[in-house]
Amino acid sequence: MKCTIPETQKVVLIDEIGGYDVIKYEDYPVPSISEEELLIKNKYTGVNYIESYFRKGLYPCEKPYVLGREASGTVVAKGKGVTNFEIGDQVAYISSSTFAQYTGISSQGTVMKLPKETSDEKLKIYAAGLLQVLTALSFTNEAYHVKKGDYVLLFAAAGGVGLILNQLLRMKGAHAIAVASTDEKLKIAKEYGAEYLINSSKEDILKQVLKITNGKGVDASFDSVGKDTFEITLAALKRKGVFVSFGNASGLIPPFSITRLSPKNITLVRPQLYGYIADAEEWKYYSAEFFGLVNSKKLNIKIYKTYPLKDYKVAAADIESRKTIGKLVLEIPQ
Ligand SMILES: NC(=O)c1ccc[n+]([C@@H]2O[C@H](COP(=O)([O-])OP(=O)(O)OC[C@H]3O[C@@H](n4cnc5c(N)ncnc54)[C@H](OP(=O)(O)O)[C@@H]3O)[C@@H](O)[C@H]2O)c1
Repeated sequence: MKCTIPETQKVVLIDEIGGYDVIKYEDYPVPSISEEELLIKNKYTGVNYIESYFRKGLYPCEKPYVLGREASGTVVAKGKGVTNFEIGDQVAYISSSTFAQYTGISSQGTVMKLPKETSDEKLKIYAAGLLQVLTALSFTNEAYHVKKGDYVLLFAAAGGVGLILNQLLRMKGAHAIAVASTDEKLKIAKEYGAEYLINSSKEDILKQVLKITNGKGVDASFDSVGKDTFEITLAALKRKGVFVSFGNASGLIPPFSITRLSPKNITLVRPQLYGYIADAEEWKYYSAEFFGLVNSKKLNIKIYKTYPLKDYKVAAADIESRKTIGKLVLEIPQ
């Protein structure tokens, strides 16, 4: 396979903190790679809520900052020391700076070689599912090990991560109590495995949870909303329940006294995916699970919409205004 690598490429970047107007679609240098690295020509990249945290300054980053966390594409160059990949290999991977035509990544990192001649349709599904499925798999295994019969509270239940969590909870035999802001979202959450539905725009979440669990509370809460739902999760957990706080869609949880956990002996975990796929063993384990579940269609990735890379600004506004259901994907110009 022959590919001429240009000196510049199109990327989506931010060079200051702010609203949607700081998102730029610009010419930017193609990264140079070291002896152990691969240069990937990207085909699809997934949109994740985390990009908004970088843009709004919740998470720090050096500017200019090329956004994006996961992609699929083809290896177009490799360093002299790389023995496990060939030019022309198709791959799916997790890395920063994927809202770009080209990304440089470690050949020893979170990258998977795909079967020869993987279709565009599959490349899109892999780019859409990789980060969120690994998040849902590792969190339901390690942040809180979900067991058969558990009652689990799940916020943003029709979002990208939410629809995957619903499916995994059903597979594990747990009772998923799904919270979302519209009836349309809840209908889809149910199709993906939710057992109980709570509309956060109309219903009292805590009251409903206590009704569903006969006043006992839930075994665990997967709470990615952050600031607005912290008190609800604390109150909705049963004695010895587990609070998995893994996102800040409504803002960062303000400082609180650790003694708030004592009355019910609550365990609080604040995981990030990278802490569960930090070494080769962990990556191998979870990425194999991902491909097994997705290729066998035991797990479905619902794609809300595919946008051209240049329209990331529109995609950002769509996800942040709470109107999307499932996953948003960007297609990279070739
Ligand atoms: N810790 C990690 O490693 C990790 C990894 C992946 C994702 N995450 C987190 O998981 C969450 C879901 O990510 P995603 O990419 O799949 O996004 P998403 O769930 O598709 O979109 C975010 C959803 O959050 C809900 N939400 C509640 N309050 C909100 C508010 N004030 N503003 C905006 N949205 C609000 C909305 O659903 P409703 O309208 O139905 O409430 C919205 O659809 C994010 O918080 C993300 O940061 C964490």
